[in-house]
Amino acid sequence: MSDRNDILIIGAGVAGLYTALKLAPRPVTIITARPVGKGGATPWAQGGLAAAIGPNDTPNLHFSDTMQAGAGLVDPEAASVLADGGPAAVEDLLQFGVAFDVDENDNIKLGREAAHCRDRIVHATGDQAGAAIMDALVAAARASSHITILEQIVVEDLLVDDNGVVGGALVYDVDAGERAAFDAGQTVMATGGLGGLYAVTTNPTPAQGHGLAFAARAGAIIRDPEFVQFHPTALDIKVDPAPLATEALRGDGAKLVNKDGRPFMADYHSAEELAPRDIVARAVETEIQSGRGAFLDARSSIGKAFPTAYPTVFASCKSAGIDPRTDLMPIAPAAHYHMGGVLTDLNGKTSVDGLWAVGEVASTGVHGANRLASNSLLEAIVFGARIADQLREKDITVSGDAGAPGDRMDLPSKPADKDAIMQLRNAMSAGCALVRSAESLTKVLDVIHSLNGHEAMTSGLKSALVTTELIAQGALMREESRGGHFRSDYPDTEDEAFHTEICTTDAYENG
Ligand code: SIN
Repeated sequence: MSDRNDILIIGAGVAGLYTALKLAPRPVTIITARPVGKGGATPWAQGGLAAAIGPNDTPNLHFSDTMQAGAGLVDPEAASVLADGGPAAVEDLLQFGVAFDVDENDNIKLGREAAHCRDRIVHATGDQAGAAIMDALVAAARASSHITILEQIVVEDLLVDDNGVVGGALVYDVDAGERAAFDAGQTVMATGGLGGLYAVTTNPTPAQGHGLAFAARAGAIIRDPEFVQFHPTALDIKVDPAPLATEALRGDGAKLVNKDGRPFMADYHSAEELAPRDIVARAVETEIQSGRGAFLDARSSIGKAFPTAYPTVFASCKSAGIDPRTDLMPIAPAAHYHMGGVLTDLNGKTSVDGLWAVGEVASTGVHGANRLASNSLLEAIVFGARIADQLREKDITVSGDAGAPGDRMDLPSKPADKDAIMQLRNAMSAGCALVRSAESLTKVLDVIHSLNGHEAMTSGLKSALVTTELIAQGALMREESRGGHFRSDYPDTEDEAFHTEICTTDAYENG
C-alpha cells in the first residue's frame, strides 16, 4: 500500500492534522477511520485552549498552575515547553484562520477555568473552540499538496519488524472490504483517548483506546495508565455519550447546587466551583451517591445570555426539555480525558523505534495526575510541531520487511461485539472510575479476563481489553491516592511521587 520511507499519521483530530501541516513540505499520509472532521473528540471540545496571552499573565504562571494541578507528577521540562508554546500556538491558529472570540476592542477574549490563576482560555463561538480549530485545520490540510488523507481506513495493529522497529500499520479498508499492510518508515499515533471504555463518558463512544493497545503490543512503555480524568459536569440526560456542560460555565459564575438548591462546593474546597477538577468530580459524585443530587445553576450568573454564550450546551439542554435560563441542569461526572498514555520524550518519540505519539494518546508529562483544563488542545499543537521538526528533514529510508502484526491477522475485522463492549464499559464504570479499591479492581480484571475468551473476539474488542487491563493494572499497582486516582483502601498520598510504567509485550504477545 506504500513505501517504507513514508511518514504515516494515524488519526485526524487536532493532533494528527496539525502535525501533518507542520511537516510541510515533507509528504505525509494521514489515515482515519471516519471522514475527516466528522470523528474524534476535537470537534466536541468546548472549553478552548489555554495560553498566557493576557496582560497580567505569563507563561511562568501558566507553568506553575500546570505543575500545581498535576499533583507531583508533571514533568517540569514538559510543562515549561507547553506553557512557553501557548502564545505562539494561538498566533499560528489565527494564521490558519481560526476566529477566536474577541471583545469590543478586537482583543481576544479570555475566560477562566478551574485551577488557572488567570483568565487565559481562548474560545470560539462561545463553546465551540474545538469545532472552529478543526474546521480551519481540515481546510488547510485539504489544500496542502504534501498531505494525503485516506478515510474509512481502520487501523487494527502496528507492524513491527524483527528488530522491534515499527514499520507502519495493519489496516482494514472499509470501502474495499480488505485488509492491507500500510508500510511506513515512521509512524505517528494521534489516535486520541479512551472515554468510550466507560459507560458514562463525554467522548465519542468509538474513543476506546485502541491506539494505546497497539503501542503496548508493539512493546512501547505505557506510563500512568490509571489516570483517567472525570469531568464533573456532564449533563445527566440519559444519553450516551453524555453531553458536556463546559467548565467555562463555572468560570462564568454558574454554581453547583443540590436538589434543594443549596450550593455545596464550599463544603469540599476553598476554591469552590473552581477547585481542581478531580476534587469537584468527587464532590459531585458524593452528592449524587448520598441522594442529594447535583445540578448546575446558571440562572442568575449567565441567564439570558446562555443561548448565544453557550450554544452547544444550550442545544443539548433543549433536546432534553431543559431551559438553563430558568431551570437547573442535572449533571454527573463522566470519563473525559486520559492523562496517562504512551511514554514519549519532549519531541514525541516513544520508547520504540519508528513510533511517535501526540495528543491524548501520548504521555508527554504535561498532565501528571490531574490535567489542567484546556491544556489538551495546546499540548496537541505544541508537541505536534515538535514531532514535525524532528521528522521533516529526517532520512527515513528503511530496508527490509515492515514487520508482522502478531496474532491480529486472525481476528475478524467487523465491529466489536456490542454486548461485550457494554459489559466492559459497565465494569469499568463500576470498579475503575472515580473511586477504586483492590476489591473493585479485581472484579474489573475478572470481567476483562472472562471476555478474553469471548467466542466472537474481534480486533476492536481485543484492543479494548488490552487497554482496560492496562488501566486496571495501573490502578492496582498505585497503592495511594493522587489527583484523578482515588483508592478507597489507600486514601493517602505518598510523600514521594512516582510513575507507573508498564511494558506489556511479553504479557500480551500471545494474548
Ligand atoms: C470543558 O470545557 O470543561 C472541558 C475543557 C477541558 O477538558 O480541557
